[in-house]
Amino acid sequence: MIIAIDGPAGAGKSTVAKILAQKLKFTYIDTGAMYRVLALKSLEKGISTSERNSLIRMARNTRINLVARKNGSLKVLMDGRDVSRVIRQPRITAIVSDVAKIKEVRKIMLVLQRRLGKVKNSVLDGRDIGTVVFPRAEKKFFLDANFKERVNRRFKELKMAKMSGVTLRGISADVKNRDTIDSTRKFAPLKKAKDAVYIDTTNLSIEEVVKRLLWEING
Ligand code: DC
Repeated sequence: MIIAIDGPAGAGKSTVAKILAQKLKFTYIDTGAMYRVLALKSLEKGISTSERNSLIRMARNTRINLVARKNGSLKVLMDGRDVSRVIRQPRITAIVSDVAKIKEVRKIMLVLQRRLGKVKNSVLDGRDIGTVVFPRAEKKFFLDANFKERVNRRFKELKMAKMSGVTLRGISADVKNRDTIDSTRKFAPLKKAKDAVYIDTTNLSIEEVVKRLLWEING
């Protein structure tokens, strides 16, 4: 069984997907983390986001693994190295959408995401899970929240993680920029699948969102 959770940055997807996967004993697959790994590697290798061919070659030659920790969070490995924390840094977030908009890069990630999702029952979160990666997913959700709330959530999250260089203004600019790139790219843009359940989480707590999803899943 595949549960697809899509939506823009800060809508609460990963928090909710993690809890849901734990409750259902499903595998959690954070597809955004995969694009973040590629963004990190491009920075480390000095490849700019305009160097398409180099990025595609790099994506083909990168090993990405997601390992579930006991507490439900994911360890993200890039060629065997734990990069779980570094991929959340603002410098990665700032360029990840430009890496993720490259069609061939997405195709490489698509193969990986499908392969992982087929091993076990899974909850996947991202931007194109219900539309492109698993269009026949048994359950699809599109989580959303108003812009201000999404910015505030990201801000709190990064502050809690003691990430340096985090400002409200910076996050606001980043979320706006990513909203635009993610939803206007030609290939697999952020879009609600026709058969996805739309949930506005602006005024809902995490528990309320999880409860709602479980209700939709279990009937
Ligand atoms: O969910 P996130 O913030 O970690 O995602 C990082 C970026 O990766 C996001 O801005 C767009 C891209 N992404 C994507 O294009 N498709 C996905 N399925 C997941 C993420």
